[in-house]
Amino acid sequence: MEITEDQLIQEALKAKERAYCPYSNFRVGCSLLTKNNKLYTGCNVENASYGLCVCAERVAICKAVSEGDRQISTIVVSCDTDEPTFPCGMCRQTIIEFCYSGNDIKIIALGKDQSKPKYSKGSDVIPFAFVPKDLNVDPQLEKK
Ligand code: THU
Repeated sequence: MEITEDQLIQEALKAKERAYCPYSNFRVGCSLLTKNNKLYTGCNVENASYGLCVCAERVAICKAVSEGDRQISTIVVSCDTDEPTFPCGMCRQTIIEFCYSGNDIKIIALGKDQSKPKYSKGSDVIPFAFVPKDLNVDPQLEKK
């Protein structure tokens, strides 16, 4: 069965509860859907050595890619902010790397009012992105 947007949102909310953020106390949860209808989640993982903090989006993306799923169709980000918050710059660059077959990625941002998500897409949050093509690389042709 197709995973629905509502299921994705519920999983991002659950992932937010698992955030490890004793330094910022800023909880972030993420869920994503891949081309083959698999769902992955992530939360932010902080460290006493602050520079090692990893955002929720990159945790979820690394989980998917390390399981062999590189084609993301939708990504949900959930924070407890008044207004929905979109991914940071580093995560935007990571998101764009794993666009489903070179198509765009749908981004759903949630703030504390889960009934009012904001929608965007990869190419809007990171215009003029630096992509594999700029290095004359076609990820589809990558040797396994
Ligand atoms: N954070 C994310 O998880 N995703 C973002 O897109 C922005 C920031 C995390 C990193 C850190 O743990 C906390 O939020 C405050 O910056």
